[in-house]
Amino acid sequence: MRTIVSLPGDGIGKTVLPESIRLLEAAGFEAEYIHGDIGWEFWQKEGNALPQRTIDLLEKHKIGLFGAITSKPKDDAAAELDPSLRDKGYVYFSPIVGLRQHFNLDICIRPCKAFKGNPLNFIRKDGKGGFEEPLVDSVIFRQNTEGMYGGIEWTNPPKQVRDAFETHPKMRKFKEIPSEELAISTRIVSLKATERIIRSAFNYAKKFGYKSVTICEKPNVLRETSGMYLQVGKRIQKEYPEIALWDTNIDAQMMWLTKNPENYGVIVAENMFGDIISDGFAGLVGGLGFACSANIGDEVAVFEPTHGSAPKYEELNPSIVNPIAMFLSACMMLDHIGENDKAQKIRKAIAEVIEEGKTKTYDMMKLRGGPDVFDKGACTTQEMTDAVISKL
Ligand code: NAI
Ligand code: MG
Repeated sequence: MRTIVSLPGDGIGKTVLPESIRLLEAAGFEAEYIHGDIGWEFWQKEGNALPQRTIDLLEKHKIGLFGAITSKPKDDAAAELDPSLRDKGYVYFSPIVGLRQHFNLDICIRPCKAFKGNPLNFIRKDGKGGFEEPLVDSVIFRQNTEGMYGGIEWTNPPKQVRDAFETHPKMRKFKEIPSEELAISTRIVSLKATERIIRSAFNYAKKFGYKSVTICEKPNVLRETSGMYLQVGKRIQKEYPEIALWDTNIDAQMMWLTKNPENYGVIVAENMFGDIISDGFAGLVGGLGFACSANIGDEVAVFEPTHGSAPKYEELNPSIVNPIAMFLSACMMLDHIGENDKAQKIRKAIAEVIEEGKTKTYDMMKLRGGPDVFDKGACTTQEMTDAVISKL
């Protein structure tokens, strides 16, 4: 039997993750779930939101199902630390970023697929006085470990850094500026990681029948890094003659996603551009209640909804939040471990519930969140799970 490391984390992570396990069990997926400690509570009690014992569990069992965590600014983090741990040099870092770095989870996959009948779907004017609702089905592959979010940056850069940069002729215009008045963030990409993300995108397109892979970068300006993405894309595409390679610029892509989003299949981008484009597409298919993701490395993989811990809804009982993003993340986990049939079965059940339109969480009714949403016809988190289970 499979062992899955269950990482509920904070806030609504503690609500939606158990619901997804209830659904997985109802769908006939047999597994043992081992709880892993992660999140704010462990920062407060131990000065570490990602304890070593949790890393060890993932190292051993390889697959993590993750809810959400709470992160707070530096000063708040310090103030909420247990008094016995204060001023001992503990520094807060985000445990999900920690997991991505520790296990080199460099492939981030974010599918954005519209469900028919979802009241939150993107619509546009059809030019004849009516509206049309194109069904978006795009999957964003975001490089998860380097690029603009690689963390290699300085305010007041040290002399060696300045000297190195000044070997570039374009640095001349900054020559007279004192270092204290300079901030530098880098965008470093490696050939190996670029090849890995682009190859994963093509493999996925092939496996799931997408006709195109789009490299969404900006090679006309970011000649070196985006240039590498495009070059590698062209080379790898030759191994997949049945899949077309498209390339778009990130800025133009953001415009096209409001015009013809249904034309795009698999999209690949560096870390920051992938972050932007995946939020953009997620908005077309229902937003945070529907946005799922996978973080995949060579050995370990962690599956999580895109949303955070939504602390303002944490205490509401019964809970109002939409568990579908978590369910779809669990389906990605099933796909990853070769349980595609069960993943499809769950997705089909979700699609039926949405199309039927009887069971809707508050976000699907465009309501303001609060305890009164049930009076207005919204279902609870648990009722949504029950509805999906009833369709299996
Ligand atoms: P958030 O995603 O937690 O919530 C933003 C808003 O989106 C919520 O107030 C709610 O209106 C809506 N929402 C989120 N999930 C929903 C769901 N399942 N169903 C219905 N509505 C939903 O982001 P926010 O408020 O910016 O951050 C809250 C905390 O979460 C912060 O501490 C932040 O650092 C953390 N966070 C953690 C992430 C993670 O665990 N990967 C990602 C984003 C934020
Ligand atoms: Mg984001």
